[in-house]
Formats: sequence, C-alpha cells, structure tokens
Amino acid sequence: MTQIFTDLKKEGGHSCLSRRRPSAKVDQPRRKAGPPLPSNRGLENPLSVSSFSPPGASPLCALCVLCGLFLSPLLFFTVPVHADEYHRAAVDRAPRNFPDRIVLNWSGDPATTASVTWRTDTSITKAEGQIAEADGSPNFVTWARSEEARTEKWKRNANVAHFHSVTFEDLKPDTLYAYRVGSGNIWSSWYQFRTASAEPDDFTFIYLGDAQNNILALWARTIRTAVLDAPHADFIIYAGDIVNHANMDSEWQELFDSGGWIHAKIPSIPSPGNHEYSDYRDADKRRLSTLWRPQFTLPENGPEGLAETTYFTDYQGARIISLNSCELHQEQVPWLEQVLEDNPNRWTFVTFHHPVFSATGGNENEILRELWKPIFDKYAVDLVLQGHNHTYARGHNIGSGAAVRDPTKGTVYVVSVSGPKQSRIKKQPWMTRGGENTQLYQVITVSGDTVQYRAMTAVGELYDAFDLVKQTGKPNKLIDRIPQSPERRWGNTLEKKDEDDKIF
Ligand SMILES: [Fe+2]
Repeated sequence: MTQIFTDLKKEGGHSCLSRRRPSAKVDQPRRKAGPPLPSNRGLENPLSVSSFSPPGASPLCALCVLCGLFLSPLLFFTVPVHADEYHRAAVDRAPRNFPDRIVLNWSGDPATTASVTWRTDTSITKAEGQIAEADGSPNFVTWARSEEARTEKWKRNANVAHFHSVTFEDLKPDTLYAYRVGSGNIWSSWYQFRTASAEPDDFTFIYLGDAQNNILALWARTIRTAVLDAPHADFIIYAGDIVNHANMDSEWQELFDSGGWIHAKIPSIPSPGNHEYSDYRDADKRRLSTLWRPQFTLPENGPEGLAETTYFTDYQGARIISLNSCELHQEQVPWLEQVLEDNPNRWTFVTFHHPVFSATGGNENEILRELWKPIFDKYAVDLVLQGHNHTYARGHNIGSGAAVRDPTKGTVYVVSVSGPKQSRIKKQPWMTRGGENTQLYQVITVSGDTVQYRAMTAVGELYDAFDLVKQTGKPNKLIDRIPQSPERRWGNTLEKKDEDDKIF
C-alpha cells in the first residue's frame, strides 16, 4: 500500500478510489479489446511494484511483475506504469527530523520583518531560525543571529507532526537577507530574500487561482513556469482552494513538493477557499483546515474569528487585503471599511476566493455583491483577484449588475484558475476577456502610476493583458493589451484523448 492510499483512508477524505473506472479504461493510449489492464494501486510509487497484486490482473501482467522481481531490478522501471483516472503524482508526506514545507510569509511589516514556518516530526521539540545579511562571501553565515521558534503539534488520526514558526524582526528595509531553519545539527539550506523598501517603490507579484487538484502532477508546471517567467517576483497571491480536501495531509505535501524552494524564497499571501474548509457546505460544521494556521504565519490584524484568513499587508505603496469569502461575510464589512478608509497607499489589491461576479453563471455570490462590492466602489479598489470558478474571466467598469457597465467604477475583477480542474464559462457583458480549458498564472507589476497585468498560460503564452493607469480624481484608465489570439474555449483547445478520461 502506498503512502497516498494509506493517507486517503486514514484521513477520511473524498477517496479517489470512489472515482475509479473499470480497469479496462485506464488513462493510457486507447486500446482495443483485450485483457483488462491492472489498476495502478501500489504503482504510484514504482518501488512498490513488488507488493502489487491487483484483483483481476492478467497472467501477462503477473509475468511482467515476476520478471521484474527475479530477473532484473532495472526492469521495474521499464514496466509501464498505468496511471489511473486520477493521474496523481506520488508523494511521501511523512515528516522527518529535518525541516520541510518551509514557507516564507509576512505577519508584520515586510520592510522590517519576515516570518517562516516549517515542519518536522515530533522528535524535534525545540527549533530555531537563523538570519544574516546575505553576502557574496559564504562567511555571512558566521554573522547570523538566532531566533527561537514557536512549536505546535499537529495531529490528525495517525498523522502527527510538529510545525515551527519564527518571525525575524528589526530587519533593514530593502536589504538582501539569508535565513535557515532547524535545530542542533540538522538544518535547512540558506534561503535568500529581500525585505521591502520602506517607501513606495515598483514591484512585481504573481497571482494564482485555484491549484486544488492533482497539485503535484499538473499544477506544479504552472507555479514553476510562473517563477521562471517572473524570477524576481516579490510575493505570490493564492486566491484560495490551494488544496482539494482541507485536512488531507498528502495534498499539502503535493503543494510543497510542487513549489519546493519557491515557497521558502518568495513570500506567500494565501487566502482560503471553500476547499480549505472541512464540511464547507454545512455552515454549522464548517471548519478551517487544521493545517492552515500551523502551516502559515500570517498577519493577525483581521476581525475577530478570522485570524490569518482576513488580514492586510502593506507593501511598497500598496495595500494587499485578503478577505475570507467562506464565512462571516457581514462581520468583515466594518473591518474592510476601516482598512480602506485608513489606507495611506496609492494602490489597493483585494483577494478572496468566491468571485463577486460569477464566471460560470448563477447568482451564487449575491451576498458579496451586496456587502462588499459597494465598499470596493466607494474606496476605488484597483484590482479584485478571485478564484473558485475554474475558468478565466476579466472585466471592469462594472455597475450594479453583471450586465451593467458604469464608467465611474474602475475596479478590475479577475477570476482565474492555475490547476487542472476546468469548467465552462458563461459569457456575460461584464467580461472583457474570458477563457476555458486553460491553466493560467498572472504576473502583475506596479510601476509608478501604472499597473501592468499579464495573464499567461501554463506553457508561457500571453493570454490577456492590460495596463491600469492612475488618474487624479477619476477612475483608473484601463488600456487593453489583449493578444490577437482567439479566446480559448472548449471547442478550440486540446480535447481529451478519451472522452471519459478524468484528469483531476
Ligand atoms: Fe472553490
């Protein structure tokens, strides 16, 4: 039994096993009649082939396994591995005594502080972070100072781990630092990052819609391409549904295997989606993932009951606000008003999961239109970055409804998706550009009076672009820079090889 399947059963999540199709329809090139192919139970880790004994396996497959066992270990790696419909990549989520899942956040001022969170097994009860100004000489390490970590235990069924967190303070603005985390003689590598300038200055960030499904198999390429495209990005915004099952530890492992050192080097600004909640359809039972707060160290400047999900961070002349669209909507209204009224920054970007205007139809988010949109209008929020619909849509000048344009309202609304789950768009008048069946990332650059926005496909093709220019006393001027390419729709993009293949 592989780690993954053990994980699914123990955590009681939505088992992928329930989605299995008959073994004759595995995700391999279309085949004619013949003996059924084996399922891949036990094959997610090729090394586990030796324990593989699926019901209904053909004599031919059994022979292959025997050959692999007795003739040559090398043959293990030449036996075709038949992925099942879930196309999931294998992970090993077990914590060890060395640091993993290292993530850089801000819980305080990005110019003078930085927060780091990491995981170990429970044998590590005391941990620390070390930080020094980075230098071309490796001797910078001898100048490091230490900060003791706060450690908390996370336990769910048979899974147990320690999460450690430090906040480095009194850092110099606009300075390159290096840090490492660990304890005793077990340490991570040194990761470099630059503190924010204390003054307004240009910067670039990446925005990612839902990762959610098959994270390591199919989302990893999106974040990796994004960072190769924008290697000097100053932070990454995640608009929720980072995982599919809030408490499924192996999906969180996929997230960190996907980004690797990216998570440790580029600060994350995550906002929770409904999939970061267990029982999210039931308001009485709904609970934030037990991993969210142990895994991130985020500002606790939000309204009561929404710590580390509703918060704001000021970065070089911009206020970045995470709202929690999954619960307590009304309770966030006075806080949001206050945070926008007392906002000394030139730019304001808001992120949350459920879109104010649905890209797939319906009025499911009417509560956000009634409660939050008037506040965005009143304070002229520049960008609203959302997820949830598993499709792409972007529009602005949106009045009192999805069909009403109002030139006095300059806020740009974006819905996007970075993972493989894709839905159908319902084109509506508010949308300037839409798209389907496409994994996307966004690179957004603030440059003086202008915001430059690029939406890119997971293969690095420009899909949508605009500039947003500040105008005194007037809504921002939007200059479309949409490429000539047609809108990507189900009808003009890559089809599945087999109609009933499932890719998530
Ligand atoms: Fe969602």
